[in-house]
Amino acid sequence: MRDTFLPFSLPTIGEEEIAEVTDSLRSGWVTTGPKTKRFEEQFREYIGARHAIAVNSCTAGLHIALTALGIGAGDEVIVPTLTFCSTANVVVHLGARPVLVDVGEDFNVTPEAIEQAITPRTKAIMPVHYGGQPCDLKAIYALATRYHLPVVEDAAHAVGAAYKGRRIGSPAPLLPCSSAPLLTAFSFYPTKNMTTGEGGMITTADDELAERMRLLSLHGMSRDAWKRYTSAGSWYYEVVLPGYKDNMTDIQAALGIHQLRKLDGFIGTRQRYARLYDQAFADLPEIETPITHPDRSHIYHIYVIRLNLERLTIDRAQFIEELKALNIGSSVHFIPVHLHPFYRETFGYRLGDCPVAERLYAQIISLPLFPGMTNHDVQDVIDAVRKVVSAHRR
Ligand SMILES: Cc1ncc(COP(=O)(O)O)c(C=O)c1O
Repeated sequence: MRDTFLPFSLPTIGEEEIAEVTDSLRSGWVTTGPKTKRFEEQFREYIGARHAIAVNSCTAGLHIALTALGIGAGDEVIVPTLTFCSTANVVVHLGARPVLVDVGEDFNVTPEAIEQAITPRTKAIMPVHYGGQPCDLKAIYALATRYHLPVVEDAAHAVGAAYKGRRIGSPAPLLPCSSAPLLTAFSFYPTKNMTTGEGGMITTADDELAERMRLLSLHGMSRDAWKRYTSAGSWYYEVVLPGYKDNMTDIQAALGIHQLRKLDGFIGTRQRYARLYDQAFADLPEIETPITHPDRSHIYHIYVIRLNLERLTIDRAQFIEELKALNIGSSVHFIPVHLHPFYRETFGYRLGDCPVAERLYAQIISLPLFPGMTNHDVQDVIDAVRKVVSAHRR
């Protein structure tokens, strides 16, 4: 057993990030400024997007995207239940109803579940690229086109992931209908594949929506109002929308500029460790490794195993406790949103509404996976999982 605790996730921050943040602090420009603009431009180029707008979280990005689309009271938005609460919370903030739907065995929302949930009140579809593996976007975009519904992709886990060779967040050739815009929100929370401490980015190919989202991110103040304290700026601005205070700061962007440069390397390390886990658990009938699709690149924001509970004498919670006793951290992604008290009490969701997500929830454990891990750390996780399995085999 290892003698130090291995956390489930840690950010990988180098001297370049520290120097860049220090430079921002010394410059006196600590809020939105030139580094935020540079980060937006570099991110836009990396993704291959037409517009990229930096915000202070993915949650803010999702909220702004739905606001820009005019989602409001009486509207319905389709959200998979196996997600972080914020995907659904932002729908509630706008007075709309999150219609929580089931997922498939690969943890991603199924096009069938989406189609069954579409009603005349549906105003948007919010697929979540669970764990960093893109959803079945061809089928989802086909539904969006057929029903004229915008798609707001929750790509919190998927910065750098690709579907049929196209990076998530770049314009969708599979979505030719102009009445169905595509907006994508990313997260740079510390557990994500790249981090800005807290932070997020929204991308879209739609010029009008991009402009509206930019305004919404900073009080609805007319363009480049952030420059008003520079010699290039002017004190005069106009408020054209009741916007929010969701802008990214240059301190965050300072981190992002260097994290973005390292992103492909980080992803490569995560993918290599994921292969090691896949191979190490292949002979264990008690453990199922993630289902992957050959037409998508999985960037392994998380590596999620499923326990075959009928082959074990302990449940998932006990399995996690046993890993912890062996100094291995882990987590669960996610408690299905429809099971949370607020969603049950407000919208009447019940156990049984999303049977696949409920079954998966009882089985899943996210194992440690981050680029700062060593091969030795990975082996410690493998040894610990195998030890718990062999001690509790039915
Ligand atoms: C699926 C999903 N969506 C949205 C978010 C929110 O991201 P942020 O913390 O950047 O607001 C998260 C964060 O963990 C997430 O996992």
